[in-house]
Amino acid sequence: MKAAIILFIFITLCLISGQVLCVRVFGCTGGSLMFECMISNQRKTDDQHKGKYFCRDRGCKMAISTDVQRRWVYNGRFALYDDENSRFFTVFIRNLSREDYGEYTCGNNQTWSHIVTLVESKGSRCGKSVIRDGYLGQKTITFRCEYDEKFKTHTKVFYRLNEDPVHVLKSSRSSQSSEEKFSLSDSHNDHFTVTIRDISAADGGVYLCGVERDGSHQSSTHITFIKEIQLNVSGQTSVQVQAYFSKSVFITCKFPQKFKGNKKFIQKDSSQKIFVEEQNQWVHHDKVHMYDDSSEGRLKVFISDLTAADEATYRCGVNIPDHDLFTEIKLTVNQGKELLGGPSF
Ligand SMILES: *[C@@H]1O[C@H](CO)[C@@H](O)[C@H](O)[C@H]1NC(C)=O
Ligand SMILES: *[C@@H]1O[C@H](CO)[C@@H](O)[C@H](O)[C@H]1NC(C)=O
Ligand SMILES: *[C@@H]1O[C@H](CO)[C@@H](O)[C@H](O)[C@H]1NC(C)=O
Repeated sequence: MKAAIILFIFITLCLISGQVLCVRVFGCTGGSLMFECMISNQRKTDDQHKGKYFCRDRGCKMAISTDVQRRWVYNGRFALYDDENSRFFTVFIRNLSREDYGEYTCGNNQTWSHIVTLVESKGSRCGKSVIRDGYLGQKTITFRCEYDEKFKTHTKVFYRLNEDPVHVLKSSRSSQSSEEKFSLSDSHNDHFTVTIRDISAADGGVYLCGVERDGSHQSSTHITFIKEIQLNVSGQTSVQVQAYFSKSVFITCKFPQKFKGNKKFIQKDSSQKIFVEEQNQWVHHDKVHMYDDSSEGRLKVFISDLTAADEATYRCGVNIPDHDLFTEIKLTVNQGKELLGGPSF
């Protein structure tokens, strides 16, 4: 009963001749938030003022405003995006803190404004932030975005912070092929996963997992971002090695310490990988000798009696779940005599 009265008062104060003058949006502490400040119907045509703003309280503390079109404008963790062809402008707030909850005003300078109440979304899955490692050439990487049960049926979204917040994909989009760069799968229970294929350096950066919340008379459509993932992509290395005909070459490949127990391999051009089945002893495959030193995370490779047929690109790698991490070695075998007095092994 009490709730009904409060709601009635809220509607009376916030709805005047069909216009929504107050909206509520929910954010996660430590998470981000994106919502639209709607332009009222009647105002669309005579909306001559391009300046838009979003500010704290009715007294407009901490203002952010923009008068440019189709470009994000920033003030610290706050950002605005306006497009005169839309019926709204967008507000984005990153990494919410408890002090951010409260009342705001958004509007067009001079003609219209709404009151926006930013409310804390409570839940144990709110506002997580993680760092993940990826490697160049990695086939797939999967992120897990946990959400609270109340969001089971909501549309899930995945954004990238590429300086600006960029929409990547959402769960309501039908038929996602596993061949695509990004794919999203929702458990409809407590998490969704996003898989990124063929990791390149350009994939490194910050990603956001969110849930879409529907508009009603008291809360407009908005996205509560619950998790932030920083993907750190490290490079494969590539080296050039020159050696002499009929001589030998000795190469050492280093791997991150955490992979010292994983199986190492050598691959010549695109032929089959030769796995090093034993650690801490020399093993050989024809004239390629390999030593997987488990104490240091190194693979030593020794190739003797070099001929022109040995000239190739070798991958010196380690097998990790989902993908390989390797160093590429471009070996050239100099046919000439050692006129230059180069190194011999
Ligand atoms: C719009 O209003 C905001 C907040 O009062 C102010 O900071 C900004 O300068 C104004 N912009 C224009 C273009 O009038
Ligand atoms: C979010 O803000 C808090 C302080 O409120 C800070 O300690 C933290 O590093 C920030 N996180 C990110 C990802 O910017
Ligand atoms: C990313 O990985 C590289 C190489 O492992 C490391 O040097 C760097 O500190 C990492 N950056 C972050 C933010 O973890």
